[in-house]
Amino acid sequence: MTEEKIVVVDFGGQYNQLIARRIRQLNVYSEVVPYTVSLEELARKEVRGIIFTGGPNSVYRDSSPKIDPRVFSIGKPILGICYGAQLIAQLLGGKVQPAEKGEYGNTTLYVHPDSRLLKGVEKRTAVFMSHTDFIAQVPKDMAVTSHTDDCPVGSFEDPTKGIYATQFHPEVEHTVEGETILKNFVIDICGCKGNFIKSSFIAEEIQRIREQVKERKVLCALSGGVDSSVTAALLSKAIGKNLTCVFVDHGFLRKDEAKQVKAIFGPDGLFDLNFVAVDAADLFYKKLQGIIDPEQKRKVIGNTFIEVFNTEKKKLGKMDFLAQGTIYPDRIESGLGAAATIKSHHNVGGLPEDIGFKGIIEPLSCLFKDEVREIGLQLGLPKTLVYRQPFPGPGLGIRIIGEVTKEKVKIVQEADAIFREEVKKAGLEYRLSQYFAALSNMQSVGVMGDHRTYDYAVVLRAVETDDFMTARPSRLSHDLLSSVADRIVNEVKGVNRVLFDYTSKPPSTIEWE
Ligand code: XMP
Repeated sequence: MTEEKIVVVDFGGQYNQLIARRIRQLNVYSEVVPYTVSLEELARKEVRGIIFTGGPNSVYRDSSPKIDPRVFSIGKPILGICYGAQLIAQLLGGKVQPAEKGEYGNTTLYVHPDSRLLKGVEKRTAVFMSHTDFIAQVPKDMAVTSHTDDCPVGSFEDPTKGIYATQFHPEVEHTVEGETILKNFVIDICGCKGNFIKSSFIAEEIQRIREQVKERKVLCALSGGVDSSVTAALLSKAIGKNLTCVFVDHGFLRKDEAKQVKAIFGPDGLFDLNFVAVDAADLFYKKLQGIIDPEQKRKVIGNTFIEVFNTEKKKLGKMDFLAQGTIYPDRIESGLGAAATIKSHHNVGGLPEDIGFKGIIEPLSCLFKDEVREIGLQLGLPKTLVYRQPFPGPGLGIRIIGEVTKEKVKIVQEADAIFREEVKKAGLEYRLSQYFAALSNMQSVGVMGDHRTYDYAVVLRAVETDDFMTARPSRLSHDLLSSVADRIVNEVKGVNRVLFDYTSKPPSTIEWE
């Protein structure tokens, strides 16, 4: 597929896929591999450079993930980030120890002169730090190339050996000059040309799918989100009527969402495919009765999804392949990586193979979200669908704190629809990365007319982010927020208070559960 690539060796950090993403933005192909990768793999000709990622462990513990030190002799430039930097320091004879005070978040970095990795970076620059251990001593002959007020080694390098390391995270957008730093590594130091092109993707995938499927049948799990919609559109172009798309409405979709999906993919829609819509709301509500723990809720929704899907599959008769809208970040989150589980993601991208298919088709599994969007537009999907904000597989189920009931779902659906309408009216629809209403489980006292009320508080959340791994709250105007709040309390029964969630991720997450 490519003559040059950067391999990202995964030590379990939360931002690992982002590193690969940033490198692809430089038009260089990049892959994340587990830290157990063989040296032969890393020594392959097309590998132009290696990056060791961050991770939650301490390098000085025996149980922490390590790599064979012979990696330093295979002749490829290496960049260590955070844990990766500490690992390099430790393996080459430096010293890593717990810090008295950890550094988290935005930090000022003081850059020393003559660094090859930090070439072109301002003398004082903002970086994102997240560490409790620190490098107390760099290995012999390595030059310290930056520091912060609390951390004596912000980065170090030995260009003659092709070794570079940063304690901070250049891949995270809060590191203002992160792109320059990664570009210095990938283009200047590793010598990549940056000519990875995606223009032939559709033609090549159609050809590949036809060769794989031949005259057999494919069942595509369709949620109506960007990823599964693009997958369905691509498959429809490749195999036409041999494709059947199954859309499951679990009852916690946004207002009118099921109608919109049916309009695009149903018999009068844009594609000539077999489309099956399943209304499984009653079953989902029944299974979720009495469940309040967020992780349990996610698991029940995921399992019920599989149950419904299985039932439908039996009705449809012989289906040889299952197609899913898995994209590259999903692959890393579900097992390829070593990152800690923050939330169990359950969506149609998580159906197990053991429900009896000969094979799985995941045409987008090498692409990131914005690449998928580009393909969607090329396939002729409407902009409103392609640029839809992400919507989680478990739907409003994880935007309702406490037990999920029909009454609560109706409240969030209505409040969310009002919020979306007002955001659109304000012209911000495509400017915000994600915005929605959630239902806190809190009830409080209010007054409506001459009556006391004891109703729910709706929470509005609006964030801006490139990568969804970190996010900032959007600075919506007071006028906009007041009109949304007024409309919600006036139009949505059961709500007497509206709050705005002003927290960043981290430490919050985007969804409430
Ligand atoms: P968090 O809440 O982890 O969300 O900050 C980050 C992004 O992931 C989406 N999300 C999910 N998407 N299935 C999905 O398909 C899930 O279970 C799930 N949980 C969160 C979330 O909407 C945000 O865009």
